[in-house]
Amino acid sequence: MSVDSDSSLIKSFVSVLGGLVLFTACIMYLATVVAPPNDYSSRLVQDSILSRIEPIGKVRTAADVPAADATQTADAGGEEGGVPAAIRTAVDSVCGACHASGVAGAPKFGDKATWDARAEAGLDGMTATVISGKGAMPPRGGTQLSDAELLQAVEYMLTK
Ligand code: HEC
Repeated sequence: MSVDSDSSLIKSFVSVLGGLVLFTACIMYLATVVAPPNDYSSRLVQDSILSRIEPIGKVRTAADVPAADATQTADAGGEEGGVPAAIRTAVDSVCGACHASGVAGAPKFGDKATWDARAEAGLDGMTATVISGKGAMPPRGGTQLSDAELLQAVEYMLTK
């Protein structure tokens, strides 16, 4: 191989290499423009990550049972104050996992238009749907609430 062809090979090799380096740099720059890196120290980013990975269910221990049973006799008036804490907690944590943000097509808390359309089934009808589960919603909404408690849960949900 002559010295000439060697140097022209090296030249084209270096220019290809240079081109690739430039291309990589461009892509890296574009990536930061299109999707700026997350600031993980920011409270907002942390909260949104936590809400995305929070468990959708909770273990129900014996300690929760008396509180849940007490709800049977509690006022089912549908006012926030009348809804037992155990049910409010279940709605906020378990049901809220889908219904707070509308995961998998779940009607969102406070989305009046969507709820109004569903409300035609009536409170009992909607509760029956929750008990049997529908679409992405597991039976009983993934909780172990009784039928009567679920009715209160749905009622409370509609006030949110
Ligand atoms: C895993 C996600 C998920 C959880 C947890 C969940 N839901 Fe749902 N829910 C859905 C989805 C999705 C729909 C819409 C189903 C459809 O219409 O296909 C829905 C629909 C409903 C409806 C409307 C039913 C109807 O008749 O149209 C009510 C009421 C409801 N959920 C209440 C609850 C309650 C109360 C809980 C907690 C005890 C709960 N959901 C937990 C996903 C969930």
